[in-house]
Amino acid sequence: MRKLNALERHLKIDRKESFVYIPIKRERLPLIKEKLRGSNLPYKVVVHSFSTSITHKKDLASCLRDTIPPELLQNIPQSYDIIGDIVIVELKPEIYPYKKEVGEALLSFHHSVRLVLNKIGDIKGRYRVGEYEILAGEGPTETVHKEYGCKFKLDISKVFYTPRLSTERIRIVNQTSPSEVVCDLFAGVGPFSILIAKKKGALVYSVDINPHAVKYLKTNISLNKVERYVIPLLGDASQLSKGPLKGRCNRVIMNLPAGAHLFLDAASDVLKREGGVVHLHLFSESPKPENWPSLYKSFRELGWAHVELMNWRRVRETGPRKFHLALDIIVKSRRNS
Ligand SMILES: C[S@@+](CC[C@H](N)C(=O)[O-])C[C@H]1O[C@@H](n2cnc3c(N)ncnc32)[C@H](O)[C@@H]1O
Repeated sequence: MRKLNALERHLKIDRKESFVYIPIKRERLPLIKEKLRGSNLPYKVVVHSFSTSITHKKDLASCLRDTIPPELLQNIPQSYDIIGDIVIVELKPEIYPYKKEVGEALLSFHHSVRLVLNKIGDIKGRYRVGEYEILAGEGPTETVHKEYGCKFKLDISKVFYTPRLSTERIRIVNQTSPSEVVCDLFAGVGPFSILIAKKKGALVYSVDINPHAVKYLKTNISLNKVERYVIPLLGDASQLSKGPLKGRCNRVIMNLPAGAHLFLDAASDVLKREGGVVHLHLFSESPKPENWPSLYKSFRELGWAHVELMNWRRVRETGPRKFHLALDIIVKSRRNS
């Protein structure tokens, strides 16, 4: 029955007198009856009140102990993301033969979850979107995620989104003051922009090149009632920075760690001539910003008289020798722009 995935694993097998009561999934009953037909095993289908298994919800490994060979249990996901009512895991190849079981276990583990996805491709391309397959559940890959009291509608198959940046987002929100003008150069569906608008009431220009992201950004601006504060712009940060955004801002958010360092001129262009703060996100092989001297040189060459690394932090480790770093840089007094 375990092999047939017929057991209601969160319920405890019961014994009374000479009977054993086995909790069977209702939808598996016809299959079980068929398997038992012809065997000499005496059985009867009854309705029974089971107690909940003590391992239920303890952890994912306990849920899967009856389904996955013990030597593979060490390969089941140790962590996963929950975005709205969708769980996203990244299964190791050894677990692929049991991906449906892992999906079902996650689904039964989290009652508010509707869909379990497996990330099968890296975050890639200009739009920084991942590739996913459905492991369990149903419905679209569109969902609404809540973060710090804000709502973000998004389709994870079309746009970038990760809840793992929430601490970084609130860190930047806390540095922003209501009188500032902010430019979110790689805004996605708007988590940095909308949080700043909602919590600080600062004016934010939100730029993204992915039309799907800008569609959701607009939806999220209305969902969070920040129409007065967030101005969505579809386009290339390089071009918009030289046009409508030139010289308007006090603060720039550059959350494109795979390539933000190629847009230092765009960040410089949107800042006011007196300067401001640049939040530069980078991927680095080193856990420290060892390339700071070359970044410093680039900002100086862009005409800034004063360039200072005010602060930096390791946001997360995204792979072996791959660190996501966030640098808070102060620039002042631009000479030639
Ligand atoms: C890593 S995602 C970050 C999105 C968002 N800040 C967040 O935290 O969810 C980077 C975003 O930059 C956008 N992007 C990439 N190149 C761009 C460009 N040249 N101009 C504007 N946006 C760009 C991508 O479409 C993507 O949405």
